[in-house]
This record gives sequence, structure tokens and C-alpha cells, in this order.
Amino acid sequence: RPHRTAPHDGAEFVVVANRLPVDKEVLPDGTVNWKRSPGGLVTALEPILRANTGAWVGWSGIPDSDDNPDIEGIDIHAVPLSAQEIAEYYEGFSNATLWPLYHDVIVKPEYHREWWNTYVEVNRRFAEAASKAAGEGAIVWVQDYQLQLVPKMLRMLRPDVKIGFFLHIPFPPVELFMQMPWRTEIVEGLLGADLIGFHLPGGAQNFLYLARRLAGQATSKGTVGVRSRFGVVQVGFRTVRVGAFPISIDSGALAALAKTKRIRDRAAEIRRELGNPKTIMLGVDRLDYTKGIDVRLKAISELLAEGRLDASETVMLQLATPSRERVESYKQMRAGIEQLVGNINGNYATVGHPVVQYLHRPVPREELIAFFVAADVMLVTPLRDGMNLVAKEYVACRTDLGGALVLSEFTGAAAELRSAYQANPYDLDGVKDAIEAAVKQSEHEGRRRMRALRRQVLAHDVDKWARSFLGTLNAESETELSANRG
Ligand code: ADP
Ligand code: F6P
Repeated sequence: RPHRTAPHDGAEFVVVANRLPVDKEVLPDGTVNWKRSPGGLVTALEPILRANTGAWVGWSGIPDSDDNPDIEGIDIHAVPLSAQEIAEYYEGFSNATLWPLYHDVIVKPEYHREWWNTYVEVNRRFAEAASKAAGEGAIVWVQDYQLQLVPKMLRMLRPDVKIGFFLHIPFPPVELFMQMPWRTEIVEGLLGADLIGFHLPGGAQNFLYLARRLAGQATSKGTVGVRSRFGVVQVGFRTVRVGAFPISIDSGALAALAKTKRIRDRAAEIRRELGNPKTIMLGVDRLDYTKGIDVRLKAISELLAEGRLDASETVMLQLATPSRERVESYKQMRAGIEQLVGNINGNYATVGHPVVQYLHRPVPREELIAFFVAADVMLVTPLRDGMNLVAKEYVACRTDLGGALVLSEFTGAAAELRSAYQANPYDLDGVKDAIEAAVKQSEHEGRRRMRALRRQVLAHDVDKWARSFLGTLNAESETELSANRG
């Protein structure tokens, strides 16, 4: 075991994630600009770390940079990655192997030994950086699929720290996970944590089965609850707990912003800018094949063709943040979506009135909130999504009880947002029916549904998520395996 000089001084609380909360951009004239990083992980964790002083270990988003940006309240530790490491660890193993495998193999995962080797190496670098950042007995919270080996590596370096791991994407069915050539290493990597969190009980149960089958460990067999009835894996003398903790958003802050005059005025202005249509439909996503952007566009195209939607009174606004643009499957998907947008406009637009408006760029936070307030129907139609925070953000912003949410059954959010217009994204007729029902709902029905959705989202915010995870990580494990063996 590597020797170390105790006691360590460093942070009491450390978040370890592939990305830093901000993304570095070097402008053509050489000036450096830090922008908010894409995706739900940063949306969720940033307010948590601001409220609890601590350190954040992550990558800045560009090659060979170890610059630490200045963020008030957060002690940043940048982990540099070379261009080759970005290609093999981030674009390769994380986003062309793990991402499609964990999202129901919507595209075929690629398995390459060089990618795996780089994934191991980069995970070691993150573990070492976390080990340096953490003070004696610190809590280290490792995030997401890019860093599944870090818990075990960090435990070898620092047996004194408490380690949590949270997976922000779905954990796949056992039959799919078994494809992974390095499946045992991944399960053992995760078992280095004291607590492993998933969004849904199903993911936790899949993992427990694999811990038994692949790592040969004794596990509890009872069903896992939501923030309750945790599973247990006995790893030698250590007890690892496994649970379901559905992630959320800073609902209260979003609702407060959505109510301001500034945002309401901007929402009204957006409606005018769009030509005062009767119905504004909205999609907000990273441009990712898991998000089912094609599904909603096809549904809209058929509804227009069948006369169930009227092109003269409808605008569909699709905001898409560029994502993983050098990965081949993302290039292909982008071309497909842009063709669909062109197709619909070619068939149904009139001069000065496109039916689909598509922006391939992130929009500023306040502008996004104004879009949520302006939208009559929010379309969230992923083929698979761990949670989907956009659905929750839309609900939080509808303080006026207006609007309607169309939601794929295959998002984690569907388990909580029962009053949405839910549909199976593989059943195009079902999606069309859900969109039509949402567009044509009565005001009374809309308010009834939105009230129920808001009750859920406001009562279960991101603070509750973090408190329930960290509270469980801190609590002495009362559930001994013997007591829990089902
Ligand atoms: P994922 O983590 O897969 O990207 P989520 O829906 O959980 O998906 O989280 C996405 C986050 O990124 C949300 O906070 C959402 O508001 C934000 N976001 C997505 N698209 C855009 C966009 N075009 N402009 C600004 N923010 C966006
Ligand atoms: O959990 C979703 C997630 O994959 C995060 O891990 C990630 O930071 C985010 O989406 C955005 O993706 P990327 O970091 O690859 O741009």
C-alpha cells in the first residue's frame, strides 16, 4: 500500500466528476472564457457545493489544461487530459461504449481494449487528484459513469475517507451489462464505495444481482425502496450499501425566478417574436440520440399531415445544446434531426412562419426559464433517460399552473411525474395521441395536472436528494446483511 503522511489537510467534502462546473473556452485572440458546463449533473451539483464549502475535482473540457478557475465557495482542482485521453477515455470508452450500453444499446456500443486501458489510467488520475484534495476522514462523492473505477482506487490510496458514488444515467438490465468485456472490473470498482446510488430501485437491484454473480459477494435480496430499504453487499469486513435516490433540481429558486416580472415580460415577448401562435411547443435537450428529438419531430410531422395540428397556429421550438460532436453516432444523429426539421418546414412553413424553429446552441439560464414559461406544451420524449431534469425544470417554472408536459415513460422522471401526458416513445401513435391531448386539454384539466406535478417537484428538490444520499452515507450502517437477507 502506498505510504502517506497523515494527517491530511484538505477539504472535508470533495466532489469528483468528469467535468468541472465550468467549461474552459479559449477565444481566437487567446483570452480565456469560462462557461457553464453542459448537462444535468452540473445543474444538480453546483448549488449543493455552493452551499457546502468543499472541493471539486474535474476536467475543464479542453486538452492539456490544468487551470483552476475561480469560483466563489468552491475549491477547484482541474485534472488535465491530453487530446489522446479525451479521444479514448471521454469520447471513446465513456461515450461510445458505456453511454450506449447503459442506454438500452440504442446505438451499438463499441468495445476497444485501448479505450479501456485509457479509461483505467484516467480513472487512476482522478483517484489521485481526489486523494490529494481530501482532508483526513473527508467525504468524497464520486459522480457518474466516466469514473466507475475511482471508488476502489481511492479506497486503496485513502482508507480513511468515506466514499459515495452516484450514477446519473440508467444502470442497464443485467442481460445488456453482461456484454461488457470488463464487467467484473467495473462492478468491483464501484464496490470500493461505502454507498452506491442510482436514480431508480430497478438500477440498484440490477447492480445487487451483478455484485453477487460477477464479484461473488453476499448481498441482500429484498426489494430496494426509494430513499429507503437499502440493499447491502458484504465485501470482506466492509458493508457497502446500495440505494435509489432520484435526483432533482433547485425547484424553489427556479419557481421564484419564473415568477419575476422580468421573466414574465420576456416570456410574453417570446410569444410575440414567434408570431403570437396559439400553441408553442418546446423541446430542450443536449443534442443526444437518447433524447428522442426525432420521435417528437416525426409525431409533429404526422399530426400536421393528418390535420390534427394546424401549421398556421403552431410553433415548435427545439433548443439543442451541442454535445460530444466528434463521436460518430452524434454526427449522424445531428444530420438526421436537421433533415427532419428541414422536411417539416419545407412541407408546412409559410414565408416568415417556420413551423419548427431550431437553435443548435445553449441559451442563457434566464432566457431558458422564459421559454419554459412561454411554452404551452413541453415535449420530453427520450428513448431512455436516467432522470431528465428538463421535465422537472418546466414544472417548477409553471407557477401559473399553465402548460402541459408530454413525458416519455422511459425517463427516470416518469416514476415521479405521474400526472404528465405519458407515452411510450417507441409507439408513435401513442406519442401523437399524448401530444394532441396536451395541446387540446381544457384549462381545468391542465391546472389539475400541473398542480399535482408541482406538488411532487417542489417537495422533492435537489437539496433533499443530496441530504438523503449524504445522510445515508454518514449514518452508521444499521442494516447488517444478516438482518436484510431476503
Ligand atoms: P442530461 O444530463 O442528459 O443533459 P438533463 O435533462 O437531466 O439531461 O439535464 C440537462 C440540463 O441542461 C438541464 O438543466 C437543462 O436546462 C440544460 N439544458 C439543456 N439544453 C439546454 C439548452 N439548449 N440551453 C441551455 N440549457 C440547456
Ligand atoms: O449524467 C449526464 C451527463 O452525462 C453528465 O455526466 C455529463 O456531464 C453531462 O451529461 C453532459 O455530457 P458531457 O459532459 O459529455 O458534455
